[in-house]
Amino acid sequence: MTFDALLKRAAGLARPGRRAILGIAGSPGAGKTTLAERVVRELNGDGPPWVAQVPMDGFHLADAELDRLGRRHRKGAPDTFDAAGYAALLRRLRTEEDDETVYAPGFERVLEQPLAGALPVPPTARLVVTEGNYLLLETGAWSRVRPHLDEVWFCEVDEAERVRRLVARHEEFGKDHARAVAWVRGPDQRNADLVATTRYRADVVVALPLRA
Ligand SMILES: Nc1ncnc2c1ncn2[C@@H]1O[C@H](COP(=O)(O)OP(=O)(O)OP(=O)(O)O)[C@@H](O)[C@H]1O
Ligand SMILES: [Mg+2]
Repeated sequence: MTFDALLKRAAGLARPGRRAILGIAGSPGAGKTTLAERVVRELNGDGPPWVAQVPMDGFHLADAELDRLGRRHRKGAPDTFDAAGYAALLRRLRTEEDDETVYAPGFERVLEQPLAGALPVPPTARLVVTEGNYLLLETGAWSRVRPHLDEVWFCEVDEAERVRRLVARHEEFGKDHARAVAWVRGPDQRNADLVATTRYRADVVVALPLRA
């Protein structure tokens, strides 16, 4: 699959009178955010924005709540997100009828905390690209996500490359090398294994890097 073919697919989801939502799933570090950003940037071009990006990562529970739940050591696992809140936002994005901006939460990588009101989805957005690990999970409130998505792509990248990039990114945001490797081999890998079991539910599997 080429990038141009993916762009055409994404653009083709938009319909008059109703906002379309494209999901991009995949394991930690597979390249979901990078692909989503590229799709949004290319489709919007220099014109008025009609495509918006909403990350699942904005629904990370705050560290204070993870401490209260005793789940901080598994941050990034399915039960460390507000999955029901994410599904509710997708439903709202889908059904919004007023000329109203919908604010989505972002994820602040330096603080490693969610940030409310970070990402405006203007009424002019006809397509929302949402991306994250657990879009295709069928357990608990995650099962309420897929019905709001028109189509889901699943990103895949060479496993050694994925691990290398994840370690590099953990280091970039403050972990020393040993802690970065331990986190990638531990919690991140358990999450990656779980995400891999949902691949078969995707509409398209996107092998990264893309051909030109
Ligand atoms: N085509 C590429 N070439 C080189 N590096 C890339 C490419 N795509 C992504 N990366 C790098 O790999 C890392 C992971 O990419 P990205 O953040 O897009 O993945 P992700 O699936 O969103 O990860 P997470 O699950 O942690 O949110 C980033 O540091 C990014 O800069
Ligand atoms: Mg990401």
